[in-house]
Amino acid sequence: MSTIKKIVITIFLAIVMGISIFLCIVDQPKTSLNLAGEIANESIRYQFSNQLAKFSKNYQSVEDFNKALLNFQENQKVIDKYNAKNNGVQLGLNKFFDMDINAFKAQYLGKKKVSSAIIKKAKDDANSLSLAALKAAAASTQPTPKPDKRNLQWFFMKTTQTTTPKPPSVSTDYRGDSVGSFDWRSYNKITTPKDQLGCGSCYAFSSIGAMESLLLIKNQSLFQGINLSEQQIVDCTIPQGNEGCLGGYELSVYQYTSRTGIATENNYPYIGKKQICKRTGWIKTNSFQYYESNLSAVTIRKIIAKQPASIGICSSDRQFMLYKSGIFMNTESYKCCVDVDHAVLLIGWGKDKTYGNYWIIKNSWGTGWGEGGYMRIQMIEDTYEQTCGIGYDLTHPLIN
Ligand SMILES: *[C@@H]1O[C@H](CO)[C@@H](O)[C@H](O)[C@H]1NC(C)=O
Ligand SMILES: *[C@@H]1O[C@H](CO)[C@@H](O)[C@H](O)[C@H]1NC(C)=O
Ligand SMILES: *[C@@H]1O[C@H](CO)[C@@H](O)[C@H](O)[C@H]1NC(C)=O
Ligand SMILES: *[C@@H]1O[C@H](CO)[C@@H](O)[C@H](O)[C@H]1NC(C)=O
Repeated sequence: MSTIKKIVITIFLAIVMGISIFLCIVDQPKTSLNLAGEIANESIRYQFSNQLAKFSKNYQSVEDFNKALLNFQENQKVIDKYNAKNNGVQLGLNKFFDMDINAFKAQYLGKKKVSSAIIKKAKDDANSLSLAALKAAAASTQPTPKPDKRNLQWFFMKTTQTTTPKPPSVSTDYRGDSVGSFDWRSYNKITTPKDQLGCGSCYAFSSIGAMESLLLIKNQSLFQGINLSEQQIVDCTIPQGNEGCLGGYELSVYQYTSRTGIATENNYPYIGKKQICKRTGWIKTNSFQYYESNLSAVTIRKIIAKQPASIGICSSDRQFMLYKSGIFMNTESYKCCVDVDHAVLLIGWGKDKTYGNYWIIKNSWGTGWGEGGYMRIQMIEDTYEQTCGIGYDLTHPLIN
């Protein structure tokens, strides 16, 4: 045996002994250790360690480990029970496998309840300058850092020559009167789903997603491959009433971008923590459209047929958190929550022979969640209350 190997083994043994001694002398709350030992059997522990490896997870303390193990076990139970119903929806383990619903809610949602004061403030403040004024403002703005030739002035010179974007030529169903199907992804108008990380910034992701799509609809070749900056929203929209990683409002984001503009992701990258605002603009939007609630399915479709919009949704239960595939729906044994606490991007809808009509949403929990970062969710035709609260706080930016 080489000396190096011996040294390594010695160090390893020392660490193991150190840990054992540590565990003996530190006054561990025995209950949590025992609890985990009793509840989680060999097979659960084995599956848990697989997940730890898969998602490169580790914990600061034995207590955290045990808590995570118990959460994992609970999540696995929810998955097994739900999948056994065989209703076309599959739940599965994802990066939230070790979380309970409270931690999940605190870290991965982040939509604040809109009040009439906030609506009024955003509407009053949002810039709806005339086109001429926007162009003049753009001409006098020197974007920093300068994003090549696609600067603000150039953007307005080019895009304002066109009027409303021509809808892609598809079937008549496209305009939303009848259900049919429509998916903005088929027209390459949706950027890849991103990940808000452990930061309650869904409001930034859904509204930035709406802006990215609108720009692609306006001019595909110009905006292909451009991501806009959610971090700028997290850092800079406190005066508009947002709270960084502790939640915010989509309409306040549009209020902000109509005045200051928004940088690219490359110029202002996402870190998932609130930091000091680096004031920088690039693309400006022109005010926004807001619908509080009570929209029929056909009205929602007509809006979405023009552009993807940010919407409120209720996401704070384990079934939503662990969604893997299929058309998420209310069933006799499962009713999803309706108290809107998350914001996503509504990008289209479709029709399934077996399970009926559905909406398509783009989420911000990475591409490992759901169907590549997306979810299909039951559409209800003759009602003003959609599944999981979809249809509340529907908002989209405007560009003339
Ligand atoms: C371990 O626990 C799970 C869930 O409680 C149970 O389904 C499984 O049968 C148990 N496995 C063994 C080997 O006891
Ligand atoms: C845009 O963001 C997506 C998702 O994070 C990423 O996969 C893609 O590489 C980004 N594109 C550019 C041009 O930065
Ligand atoms: C889109 O941008 C390109 C430059 O990439 C420009 O040549 C074209 O005229 C623009 N199209 C529209 C419809 O504005
Ligand atoms: C929702 O809108 C419909 C149609 O406009 C109307 O009949 C109904 O009273 C509205 N409901 C609420 C709660 O506002």
